[in-house]
Amino acid sequence: MDVTVKLKVNGEERSVTTDPQRKLLDVLREDLHLTGTKYGCGEGRCGACLVLLDGKKAFSCLVPVTAADKKSVTTIEGLAGSDALHPVQEAFLEEGAMQCGYCTPGMIISAVALLKEKPNPTDEEIVAGMNSNLCRCNGYVKIKNAVHRAAEKSRR
Ligand code: FES
Ligand code: FES
Repeated sequence: MDVTVKLKVNGEERSVTTDPQRKLLDVLREDLHLTGTKYGCGEGRCGACLVLLDGKKAFSCLVPVTAADKKSVTTIEGLAGSDALHPVQEAFLEEGAMQCGYCTPGMIISAVALLKEKPNPTDEEIVAGMNSNLCRCNGYVKIKNAVHRAAEKSRR
């Protein structure tokens, strides 16, 4: 039987009536048309589907939509302000830290979560903090540089 779930998505109250077995990722992409969050492995191993759930990173491919009821969800679409990108988005662009771009939304969400905890991370802390994310284009060096650049921007 369908249930109604209330979510605060990117600051907006949304209500979805759906099968409780569905995952948050599917609801975001198919019902709310927020396709920035990607499907990769579907089993918590690649980070393409990362979102912030009440401010903490969560694999939306694993989270049943009912577990997000009454919670706040931030997707890649919700990071930018009305007239400027989020500093992490800017840093990824400036460093050219993407090739095909498929992993990029999840990488950026992961970097935002990391920088909240560690505003000035070392290389090792970036590797440890983002080990939930895979880049099949192997763009890790530029991604690491982008996280350092984002940290620098946030200190200005
Ligand atoms: S799609 Fe969720 S971790 Fe890979
Ligand atoms: S840029 Fe292609 S998967 Fe990372």
